[in-house]
Amino acid sequence: MENRKNGKRISLIVDALMYIILLVQMIYVFTGNIIHEILGIGFFICLAAHIIIKRRLLLSTFRFRNKSAPRIIANISTILLTAASLLMAVSSMGVSRTLFPWFRVMGYVDLHIYLGTAILALAVLHGGMQGYMRTKKKKTAAVLTALGCAASLAVGLALVPYLNRHFKVVRIDRAEAVQGEKVDWKGNKPLVVYFTRLGNTDFDDDADAVSGASLLLADGELMGSDQLLAEMIDDAIDCDVRAVTVTGEKYPSSYGDTVSVAGKELRSNARPAVEPIDISSYDSVILVYPLWWGTVPMPVASFLEGCDFSGKDLYLIATQGSSGYGSSADDIAKMAKGAEVHKVMSIYCDDIPEARDRIGQWLREIN
Ligand SMILES: Cc1cc2nc3c(=O)[nH]c(=O)nc-3n(C[C@H](O)[C@H](O)[C@H](O)COP(=O)(O)O)c2cc1C
Repeated sequence: MENRKNGKRISLIVDALMYIILLVQMIYVFTGNIIHEILGIGFFICLAAHIIIKRRLLLSTFRFRNKSAPRIIANISTILLTAASLLMAVSSMGVSRTLFPWFRVMGYVDLHIYLGTAILALAVLHGGMQGYMRTKKKKTAAVLTALGCAASLAVGLALVPYLNRHFKVVRIDRAEAVQGEKVDWKGNKPLVVYFTRLGNTDFDDDADAVSGASLLLADGELMGSDQLLAEMIDDAIDCDVRAVTVTGEKYPSSYGDTVSVAGKELRSNARPAVEPIDISSYDSVILVYPLWWGTVPMPVASFLEGCDFSGKDLYLIATQGSSGYGSSADDIAKMAKGAEVHKVMSIYCDDIPEARDRIGQWLREIN
């Protein structure tokens, strides 16, 4: 009797831990990567314990004959949850940057985020259905389970991307991020042109005081993510680097306000004035730009349309918050008249500080 009670208690603790870990994993913007990865391992240890504790029930999950509708829903949620968790184990290692950097299978961030959302919603459905079948207050249990599932989907699909884009402050060691293996560039060195929010935004001097700005701090100083990539290229091949800089009104310091200003610019097909960049003495240009509203920021459009790219190679690096490179490559091909536009390398924004090796490899490939 006492043993059974203890078993139940352990089972409850393990289940509660899994829900808590899942929720904390959703706010990884605040916990940081290493805690996210360690908690991920913690989740799978709890999951293994949960499966061992419930092993007798597990086999009956696959029996559907003569089962009530709630039991069938519960069984389906258990099977889907188990499948999603197994995929998640592979995906977690695939996107790991600290503990399993050598594991390259299923390393898609989008997939990882969607799997996380699915697991949270299915875990709520799974737990809710167990409660539904035990309680007499069926209606309340059904409503709470449905609301819990909807809230989980909203957290994963809306809140997580929102937090990630608006509240992230990444601190890096500049030299460590930028320096890496040199690449022997054959022929004339390309010009690297980048656009970044820094230099085009009215940031306050006190970077940490800019709430909701989504910032990169290199050795305590503000830095643009795409500027960091440009510096990595410069470190690899020692080339000229220029920034696209607006000459008129700058973007607001708040990330959210920048998104809405950029949206208005895109809808009106604006071409904000930018400082001229002379590309005439270069055979090739490497353009590093953030994806804004699925395409290039409008000041980049101003730069591209203001230059003569005839006979020049144009290599592209897009940074993005989950949408690949959108329509940017096609749009750039129309804007950069005469350019031979090459395939885009797309870098997820969280991966920028650790992109030095990728940059080196990419430079070797294009040269
Ligand atoms: C105005 C604006 C619009 C954005 N639109 C998109 C988008 O459509 N798709 C996407 O994946 N990321 C989008 N992002 C995220 C940026 O591409 C990402 O944050 C950037 O590449 C990283 O550079 P940053 O740290 O300087 O913002 C947008 C960011 C801003 C500021």
